[in-house]
Amino acid sequence: MLVSAKEMLTKAKAGKYAVGQFNINNLEWTKAILLTAQEQNSPVILGVSEGAGKYMCGFKTVADMVKAMIDELGITVPVALHLDHGSYEGAKKCIAAGFSSVMFDGSHYPIEENIEKTKELVATCNELGLSLEAEVGSIGGEEDGVVGAGECADPNECKMIADLGITMLAAGIGNIHGKYPENWAGLSFDTLDAIQQLTGDMPLVLHGGTGIPADMIQKAISLGVSKINVNTECQLSFAEATRKYIEEGKDLQGKGFDPRKLLAPGFEAIKATVKEKMELFGSVGKA
Ligand code: 13P
Repeated sequence: MLVSAKEMLTKAKAGKYAVGQFNINNLEWTKAILLTAQEQNSPVILGVSEGAGKYMCGFKTVADMVKAMIDELGITVPVALHLDHGSYEGAKKCIAAGFSSVMFDGSHYPIEENIEKTKELVATCNELGLSLEAEVGSIGGEEDGVVGAGECADPNECKMIADLGITMLAAGIGNIHGKYPENWAGLSFDTLDAIQQLTGDMPLVLHGGTGIPADMIQKAISLGVSKINVNTECQLSFAEATRKYIEEGKDLQGKGFDPRKLLAPGFEAIKATVKEKMELFGSVGKA
């Protein structure tokens, strides 16, 4: 059964650990993440961007696949199915399709408009018992064609959005989607600290989890981050393992071309990456 992310994140914030959001792209991705969460007895959030939703034939296909998989694999740890960086319309579609959590990313709107739209979704999500993530200060880098400037959020604007009754808040603190450039200045802990001072118990979300050094992750958790998004790192692990299989000519040996064999090393690589992140975030055994 899918659950809202509210309870798992409230517990994470109080227990000073973070729950990972791992983005999914297909059946193998989803299965790898769900099985790892079960093996590690960890809560987990499956992230779906609008582009990935389209790729998987729509949000209903995704929601039905995830629900069936939880059932048939006997997954008992808390799992939230979450729209990542949703538009207002995308959020509505995911709610109708059966997602248990949505993100409305209004960070590119003027703050008044972000507040207005977020407020409307708070009402809908509260009524249905779904969790809602909002964003202030766009996250840098490119994700699914959406390019953010990588700002540091204004802590006062964060408080205004947090006070609307959302479940969790994503705030730009110098983080970037994708690989970090050589000259990256690192996370702005002063900004994070100021945001947490003003937003209190609100679980904070760190996007762009790929490539952030372990010490920065731990410091971010100590300053109120309770959800960390990881996408690119699973893609890199999957691609590397698949390339190795093909470069070693394994697809040419026997039935090595069978997709169930061809995709197996990539599947195992995703599992290893997810396990490593769950250990780093401290969510192992917290289901
Ligand atoms: P990365 O691709 O950098 O891990 O970022 C993931 C993310 O923040 C999804 O919203």
